[in-house]
Amino acid sequence: MSFEGKVALVTGGANGLGRATAGRLVERGAKVVLADIEADSGNSAADELGAEFVPTDVSDPEASVAAVAYAVGKFGRLDMAFLNAGISTGCGVAEFFDLDKYRRAMGVNIDGVVFGFNAVLPAIREAGGGSIVATASLAGLTGTPPDPIYAANKHAVVGLVRSLAPIYEPEGIAVNAICPGYAETRIISDVRHELVQDGTPIIAVSEVVDAVEKLFESPDGGNCVFVQAGRSDVFRFRNVPGPRV
Ligand SMILES: NC(=O)c1ccc[n+]([C@@H]2O[C@H](COP(=O)([O-])OP(=O)(O)OC[C@H]3O[C@@H](n4cnc5c(N)ncnc54)[C@H](O)[C@@H]3O)[C@@H](O)[C@H]2O)c1
Repeated sequence: MSFEGKVALVTGGANGLGRATAGRLVERGAKVVLADIEADSGNSAADELGAEFVPTDVSDPEASVAAVAYAVGKFGRLDMAFLNAGISTGCGVAEFFDLDKYRRAMGVNIDGVVFGFNAVLPAIREAGGGSIVATASLAGLTGTPPDPIYAANKHAVVGLVRSLAPIYEPEGIAVNAICPGYAETRIISDVRHELVQDGTPIIAVSEVVDAVEKLFESPDGGNCVFVQAGRSDVFRFRNVPGPRV
């Protein structure tokens, strides 16, 4: 399946997983717009990949709407969105609590995804359907003591995706989440040394990109795909026990 003729918006597209995924989508024939808060790396990534760049702070709802308007203005439509921008928080809830860091994390990691859906859904509907992948994390599927606020943010992304998917499936809009473990990007730079010492395998960026690409190829929605080093698959949630009547 080619992405020829398709237009994609990639938030957090200036670096790491977003940038690498954008490169793959360009290789597969898509027109890609990178939306990122970092203008220098965004512009250079766009030049290198043959993409476009629009400066965007995803925690600002108007900026997300403007990014979509830029993509549609440039290429006439929007078919795919990778809602991927995210940050580690540096914030706990008691002795490490910091209100600014907390608000920033909520603003980027959950508001940013909600505002992203809000902005891209009308455009993708207008295109007659398409696909949205949000970046959650393994921290969205399991407790994560090193960064509890991040885990709360990413669990929220998982809940959002699972709740939105059935709403938009009838319109041919697939909504899915990607849930990588520790992958080789700068977001893990503070913990990388410890991970290596503990023998925790770090996932190659290309493995995450392969999984995101598969999600964009699939018409199915409602899936949270985990990525670990050497393996990736749909995460199977247990059903909630029903009532006893
Ligand atoms: N690398 C990992 O180990 C890992 C694991 C699981 C999930 N994730 C998630 O993957 C996504 C991508 O992270 P990455 O690993 O590529 O890290 P990264 O730091 O390389 O890339 C994140 C990108 O998001 C951008 N960004 C940050 N705040 C933004 C904002 N307010 N508006 C727009 N863009 C903003 C950054 O400028 C950067 O380009 C994040 O959501 C992250 O939480 C990463």
